[in-house]
Amino acid sequence: MALGITASAPGKLLLFGEHAVVYGSPCIVSAVNQRLFVTVTLNGENVFHLSAPDLGLTAYSKNIDTLGGKGLPTGVRFIEVLYKRFLATHPQIRGIDVVTKSDFSSSFGFGSSSAATVAFAKALFTAYNIPVDKRRLFEICYQTVLEVQGVGSGFDVASAIWGGTLYYVSPGKVIEPLVTGNLPLVVGYTGVKADTPTLVRQVAEHRRRQPKIIQGLFSQITTIATRAREALLVGDFKTVGFLMNENQLLLNELGVSSAKLDLLNKKAVEAGAWGAKLSGAGGGDCMIAVSPMYKNDPRQSKTERRKIEKEIDCYGELMKVDLGAEGVRLEEDAKNNN
Ligand code: MEV
Repeated sequence: MALGITASAPGKLLLFGEHAVVYGSPCIVSAVNQRLFVTVTLNGENVFHLSAPDLGLTAYSKNIDTLGGKGLPTGVRFIEVLYKRFLATHPQIRGIDVVTKSDFSSSFGFGSSSAATVAFAKALFTAYNIPVDKRRLFEICYQTVLEVQGVGSGFDVASAIWGGTLYYVSPGKVIEPLVTGNLPLVVGYTGVKADTPTLVRQVAEHRRRQPKIIQGLFSQITTIATRAREALLVGDFKTVGFLMNENQLLLNELGVSSAKLDLLNKKAVEAGAWGAKLSGAGGGDCMIAVSPMYKNDPRQSKTERRKIEKEIDCYGELMKVDLGAEGVRLEEDAKNNN
């Protein structure tokens, strides 16, 4: 029996620059320590089988000559479209069985689609024994996301591949890993799933109607992301927090925040956070807050953090995640078999 190859990729949280990144501004993204796992097994038939319960699908099969047609279930589109693209440049006669499993819900806005696409691509190339580097992975995954979703800057794909914390300019023009040490962030979930493509289109419509105003907001976001990069590199988290507050004000002006996000941000700051903002497209998903970090007083830092966590837990859902996680990787079974 053929052995499966398993790869995993992390979810992500945007720290700075959402929406503006779609129009060429930089953003800063960090990978979270919750992962999406994909196992690919060559099945010896001309068939593509997929089971992705966490993406809303339990059993799906297709002949590999008919991949990528219209009307695919959303959960499988990224994987099926990528496989079709792969077969166009690496024709195969044997199909695959694909099984996915996730540490996190696709509702959080951690980027389950991009993590699934990246983990699948890594497992797929490895299963067929075809070498692939990070740049090639990025190209095929980002093209797939664009084909399926129509919009997107690709920052989530880069984060799933490189991991850590990245300074990113679309479309992969700059992918700079930032060495930041531990990020003292508290993460809260609003309980509402954001509809990213709709929000991106909404901002595009604002920009079409009021180009000067929206471009002005994007320029300010560029300045913030640039300053945040410097502050993160020297571990100046007070400035990071201040810049998050500034970025949030601009996101409010863009019209993508929500009452729940605003409430969680306010509660975090009232509880002592150095700054807070929404993370991602807005409308829901998660917010992040900078917990005070006193280099010479770790106990005080911990006490302050607890206060913020308690407040977030009271008004939303506290997410226990660490940032700066490792990018896509083969899991042990796959490493041993290669
Ligand atoms: C969504 O998580 C972030 C956006 O900037 C869209 C994108 O960059 O693809 C709104």
